[in-house]
Amino acid sequence: MKISVIGTGYVGTVSAACFAELGHDVICVDIDKSKIDLINAGIPPIYEEGLQELLKKHAGKRLSATSDYDSAIMNSDVSFICVGTPSDSEGNIDLGIVKAASASIGDSLRKKKGYHVIVVKSTVVPETTEKVVLPVIEKHSEKHLGEFGIAMNPEFLREGKAVHDFMHPDKIVVGSMDKKSGDIVAALYNGLKREVTRTNPRTAEMIKYVNNSFLATKISFANEVGNICKELGIDTYEVMSAVGKDFRIGPHFLNAGAGFGGSCFPKDVKALIGKAKEIGYEPQLLKSVIAVNEGQPARMVMLLKNKIGSLEGKNIAVLGLAFKNDTDDIRESRSIPVIKDLLDEGAVVSAYDPMANENMKKLFGGIRYYSSAADALRGADACLIMTEWDEFKSLDKEFDVMENRLVIDGRHILVKPGKDIEYVGICW
Ligand code: UDX
Repeated sequence: MKISVIGTGYVGTVSAACFAELGHDVICVDIDKSKIDLINAGIPPIYEEGLQELLKKHAGKRLSATSDYDSAIMNSDVSFICVGTPSDSEGNIDLGIVKAASASIGDSLRKKKGYHVIVVKSTVVPETTEKVVLPVIEKHSEKHLGEFGIAMNPEFLREGKAVHDFMHPDKIVVGSMDKKSGDIVAALYNGLKREVTRTNPRTAEMIKYVNNSFLATKISFANEVGNICKELGIDTYEVMSAVGKDFRIGPHFLNAGAGFGGSCFPKDVKALIGKAKEIGYEPQLLKSVIAVNEGQPARMVMLLKNKIGSLEGKNIAVLGLAFKNDTDDIRESRSIPVIKDLLDEGAVVSAYDPMANENMKKLFGGIRYYSSAADALRGADACLIMTEWDEFKSLDKEFDVMENRLVIDGRHILVKPGKDIEYVGICW
């Protein structure tokens, strides 16, 4: 099939490259010319494991990029909306970019004769496809549903593992208002060995939010248990390792620590809270998931102050800036509130992250960044580990250069702390 993908972030670019790998012809559409040029040159505009190989293989052949909506819509049968859905100031979803993309698609669709299916892949709150995207497309195309198709096909891609997750999905969900549109979208995934769950658009939208919100709930549950265990001298990892053996629970996403970050969990849980309130329901549990998560960074700083008192003038090393390992993405990273608190308390902060230094410089220009853990640790009065980078697992001699060998671990990453350091775990 001929596909156009609107938006070249990690979901759009990965989906485009993987659809090309499945044998489809794909046109990426973006307003950012630099991204368009990169994709056409076979260079990924974002880092994702395996993406470079796919872009090199398909760019200029099955895969191209343009800023021209008309040519993209004319030369494709299906368009995926993969644009961002950020939070607004109250934490509710901001559908502005989705509406703009829908309007542009509609404007081009007006000039097209043949049948065309529009698929929402962006994470949108329930009812968005039917009550926001569809009316905008009908208005701009001057056509009615039936003359074109619409569907909702959420993604379940982890940043850093997005290519793997696209090509090895544990579920494919297609929500549509009519069988024809749903059949066309489901057929795009024929190359993957996974049956397609067919439903309506709002159910597909809700499946995505519940999936992310449940994962975030597991993490906040593990953190709440961890905070209790900490006070009782119990290692929550020992607890969760046994609890996770229950087949109804499973071992994953029960790692207590400094909390969840990223461009999805915080945003999606808050958006679902906002949607629930909009329909008059007060989501107590979802609100507590956010509350527990927002409390974890402060616990890191509290443990530090319990150990060394005032932070005024103290040298504190922060190891890990990205919201998780294997990415340079710092969005909602738990190290951001930690660094802010440290600076507010008058500490001198040094930082190291294997990939995210440059991104964090845009937020905190006044702290010192280093290109190795050892350099960041030199002369430090304490160290906070904030991201689960594999290289932090083997830190040992590097702590020798610290002024005071106090290490507060927010990620249970230092599995064998050396005997001559004072080691403190946030929840263990
Ligand atoms: C998540 C979902 O996993 C993915 O399915 C969805 O499509 C997008 O959101 P991502 O945000 O890339 O993916 O990262 P993920 O690997 O899920 O981790 C999210 C955050 O939770 C990270 O900050 C990580 O450090 C934290 N985390 C994860 C924990 O604190 N404990 C855990 O047990 C697991």
